[in-house]
Amino acid sequence: MSKTVTVTGAAGAIGYALLFRIASGQLVGPDEKVRLRLLEIEPALKAAEGTAMELVDCAFPLLEAIDITADPNEAFDGANIAMLVGARPRTKGMERADLLEANGAIFQPQGKAINDHAADDIKVLVVGNPANTNALIAMNNAPDVPRERFTAMTRLDQNRAYGQLAAKLAIPLTDIEDLVIWGNHSPTMFPDLFNAKIKGPPSQKAVDAVDDMAWYENEYLPNVGKRGAAIIEARGASSAASAANAAIDHIHDWVLGADGLVSMAVPSGGQYGVPDGLVSSFPVRVSGGDYEIVEGLEVGEFAQSKIDITVNELKEEQAAVKSLGLIG
Ligand code: NAD
Ligand code: LMR
Repeated sequence: MSKTVTVTGAAGAIGYALLFRIASGQLVGPDEKVRLRLLEIEPALKAAEGTAMELVDCAFPLLEAIDITADPNEAFDGANIAMLVGARPRTKGMERADLLEANGAIFQPQGKAINDHAADDIKVLVVGNPANTNALIAMNNAPDVPRERFTAMTRLDQNRAYGQLAAKLAIPLTDIEDLVIWGNHSPTMFPDLFNAKIKGPPSQKAVDAVDDMAWYENEYLPNVGKRGAAIIEARGASSAASAANAAIDHIHDWVLGADGLVSMAVPSGGQYGVPDGLVSSFPVRVSGGDYEIVEGLEVGEFAQSKIDITVNELKEEQAAVKSLGLIG
């Protein structure tokens, strides 16, 4: 058995932190061989070749093959898993519409190439920002692929939310369960302490264990939401190893399953009032290679008001890419 895993932006910082972990068996488990397909733009192909040389030098027993290309049609040919990391970063003076347009030029053809060439069981994770809307663009350009195969990453936000809550409560991370993110991978995201639990006995809602709504609203929410910006400020570059780690978590759990709730940005089927087709982060359960949005969770007034803000932002991004002709 082997899986073909396509990684775009393979010569970038996240690519460098991601590829070795995939090749070592951490993505799809120790019993599955992997064939890596690296997609890069022409000027970065040489750097991708250097990374491929290092991969060879690791002598990973599970790594069957590495192919490097600048052609999306080749890169996604027969792909079982696609990790779309390469994206156009926002540069000085760039308006949001410019950013969406530049990324549309990447994710529209990649969506088409996935549609035409990927394996029937393709699973897609978009990491490149703006991740939710890039996933929306790719999904809308792949009409023959079931739309639920297109997902975007909010697992890094979930992992950050776990870390910051554990520090606040001075408890081990493993005492926290079902802490998930709603909405957009942007500062408006909503980490949900109402449905998260602190293990007992007796088990407690995380929001009750914290018992400090001012901290929740004025410190926790902005600190989790703006953690990406804080990392950029501190290291002078956006998070790479932690982003790669979260990408591994996301696909690993989707393929192999996990206990409890996890966060994935996935196309809404209208659950919790999120408009149908919007790629928004939800609490999901993963098992048997599939995920399911978990319905019936508590969403009170406070949570709903925060979810509305982040979902409205996604609606605006959707309207912007629609007006640019990037989606139908
Ligand atoms: P990077 O600039 O180091 O690497 C990006 C790579 O993508 C470059 O090598 C570039 O040549 C390549 N690329 C650009 N256009 C491409 C295309 N059309 N096809 C293939 N490759 C292409 O950036 P990075 O640090 O690796 O980050 C990548 C993306 O991930 C950024 O958009 C970043 O904002 C995003 N990110 C998302 C999260 C998240 O939680 N969703 C977290 C961290 C970073
Ligand atoms: C992150 O959350 O670390 C990144 O999305 C930040 C960024 O803008 O690259």
